[in-house]
Amino acid sequence: MIVRFERVDAAAEWRDARREAGDTVALVPTMGALHEGHLSLVDTARLSADRVVVSLFVNPAQFGPSEDFDSYPRDPDRDGALAEARGADALFAPTAADMYPEEQTIWVEPGPLGDRLCGRSRPGHFRGVLTVVAKLFAILRPEVAVFGRKDFQQSVLIRRMTAQLGFGVRISTAPTVREPDGLALSSRNSYLSAGGRDTARSLSGALREARAAFAAGERRQDALEAVARRHMERAGADVEYVEVVEPEGLTRPSRAEDRHVMALAARVGTTRLIDNETLGRPSPLDEIRPGPPGSP
Ligand code: PAJ
Repeated sequence: MIVRFERVDAAAEWRDARREAGDTVALVPTMGALHEGHLSLVDTARLSADRVVVSLFVNPAQFGPSEDFDSYPRDPDRDGALAEARGADALFAPTAADMYPEEQTIWVEPGPLGDRLCGRSRPGHFRGVLTVVAKLFAILRPEVAVFGRKDFQQSVLIRRMTAQLGFGVRISTAPTVREPDGLALSSRNSYLSAGGRDTARSLSGALREARAAFAAGERRQDALEAVARRHMERAGADVEYVEVVEPEGLTRPSRAEDRHVMALAARVGTTRLIDNETLGRPSPLDEIRPGPPGSP
């Protein structure tokens, strides 16, 4: 049976009891609306520690004023059942008043890494993410925390925060889980119309095409980015950014290398989607056969 708690003190007590029992704890932070991507993090967490706690909190501090905080899908009962079926031991689903007991005047600032890529169009987003993850670390004091590679910039920032603030939490990153046609699973995919769903697969299609160009010898990042951008635009996506970056400092290299990452964001209708892949390493995208010529 999964244990559920809303209150911060109940969560901390659960944690203390685990410590007394000699158990290590892995944390999987989420905003709920769990899908196979989140559940794969539970699998990784179970391999990394004795006990797994999944947190469920739609964090108001990481949404901009015109973003989808109000409409973000919420179904805690379903999430609890899914987490339990996957072997999680505990579900921490605090209220906003529990997580923000007073006006938040003290924040974890991401610095320059937070201004790049998604940070450009989402000012304050990563400050909200880092602050809530720091709170979760302080409350649950996990030995390990597991994040998805799907949110690449977020995982880079969380590693830097953990190293610089000395949380002593081991950060583990799990691969992106995709639909059979390549679309990265996301809670926001539920916003897509049938036509939008077709356009949305152009994000992974763009990564696949750029990876193919890289495999064929293209090393100019502008050329690789142009290939990906054209692919998404042809499918009707509204491209926000496409960038080849080196994976530690997120800077643009002068020439693309195997370990460099292509990260991109685009709007499909009103839905904002992101994706990324390493350019020169094996990827599940290699297994996906593109549709007929001209299709995204
Ligand atoms: P959320 O979007 O719910 O994602 C929770 C975790 O699931 C993140 O680490 C994310 O990278 C991972 N994830 C999402 N889709 C995935 C996929 N297709 N494959 C693998 N992992 C995937 O990210 C957040 O919530 C929040 O910012 C949070 C860290 C919880 C702080 O509020």
